[in-house]
Amino acid sequence: MNIAVLISGRGSNMLALHQAIQKGSLKNVTLSLVISNNKEAAGFAKAKILGLPTALVDKDRFNSRLDFENQLTHTIQQQPVDLLVLAGFMQVLSREFVARFATKIINIHPSLLPKYKGLNTHKKVLAAKDSKHGLTIHVVTADLDSGPIIMQKEINVANTTTEESLAADLLVQEHLFLPLAIQLIAQQDIKLAQNHVLHQNWQIGNKGIRWDEHNYATIEICHGKNNIVITNKADGLLDHNIREDTETDEIRQKKESVQKLLNQAKRWLLEQDSNLRPIG
Ligand code: GRF
Repeated sequence: MNIAVLISGRGSNMLALHQAIQKGSLKNVTLSLVISNNKEAAGFAKAKILGLPTALVDKDRFNSRLDFENQLTHTIQQQPVDLLVLAGFMQVLSREFVARFATKIINIHPSLLPKYKGLNTHKKVLAAKDSKHGLTIHVVTADLDSGPIIMQKEINVANTTTEESLAADLLVQEHLFLPLAIQLIAQQDIKLAQNHVLHQNWQIGNKGIRWDEHNYATIEICHGKNNIVITNKADGLLDHNIREDTETDEIRQKKESVQKLLNQAKRWLLEQDSNLRPIG
């Protein structure tokens, strides 16, 4: 799978993807283009030094968003690109642009959406005295930070946390979970659709794959009126809402498949960092 990463600034998520590919933890994925809309972007300079394929579509050189997006489209179409990854890309894309690449654009956002769309998420979390913060990787639709959620990761907010330290703590997780989400897409364990995200053509609930602070993951799989909610705990699988006597072959099949997916994702995370071992 070929990805293009769109950046505007520091580009640390783009670099994390590059490193994951180099290390071999992100398999069958090629970073075929790094696009910056800002000529001053530090990440863009770093990508060039690393010898990655780069393109500048300088937002200041265009009089209208239409002209900018036409050039952006042209640039993307010069390369084989299966997925556009917005990683700190500070520009809202038009409905027309998003439609052109429908279900092929994802974004990483530093909050547990739908909470705190837009900017200054860390500040908002602290102002609200939230005990949890996190990141969201979602499909991009025409409405800002509102597309179907692929994955979320929660972190705890300590009393002593500052905006800077909260941002730094979350960034470590961004660098881990963005490659993981892309790996699952590349393997087709997760498929992107306009209004939802799928596993094996089964619709996933609206929180995507939700990792808590201990790295236990929960997926809700749509199943008639009673969704199947599955959590992957340290000691095995926990399904919250299916009574054994009502379990059908179809439910069993869904549970097994989700368990396999979560086990595999968990193994992937542990391989990246042994400090991630779940507590308890
Ligand atoms: C990240 O926090 C990302 O979630 C948000 O913008 C920031 C980009 O950081 N969308 P970097 O440019 O990847 O270092």
